[in-house]
Amino acid sequence: MLECMKNRRSIRKYTDQDIPESLLNELLEVATRASNTGNMQLYSVVVTRDPANKEKMAPAHFNQPMITGAPVVLYFLCGCEPFREMGGVQESGGRIR
Ligand SMILES: Cc1cc2nc3c(=O)[nH]c(=O)nc-3n(C[C@H](O)[C@H](O)[C@H](O)COP(=O)(O)O)c2cc1C
Repeated sequence: MLECMKNRRSIRKYTDQDIPESLLNELLEVATRASNTGNMQLYSVVVTRDPANKEKMAPAHFNQPMITGAPVVLYFLCGCEPFREMGGVQESGGRIR
């Protein structure tokens, strides 16, 4: 485990090898097991494979080439609605308690 943590690196270049839907779904299913507030799973995941959509999103990533170069881009969108309904956040996003 320590070796794995010490040797990890950010990857900025990808092969054009496709990622099968079944593998991607398995990875996402494992990702949903990550610890999160009250297990509310306050996020959605947008899977982006279409090159045209990746091009559209490139400016939001300062046109860094790894976005258009990756076969699949995942966007994790955070949504606080269930937490807000419980009174956990104010409109500004600040904690009430
Ligand atoms: C929230 C976050 C945003 C990042 N954004 C970028 C980015 O836009 N472009 C990039 O090349 N690296 C990005 N990185 C990677 C960091 O630059 C990288 O972790 C750092 O240079 C150390 O390199 P390492 O991850 O290989 O140890 C980001 C990392 C984090 C945690």
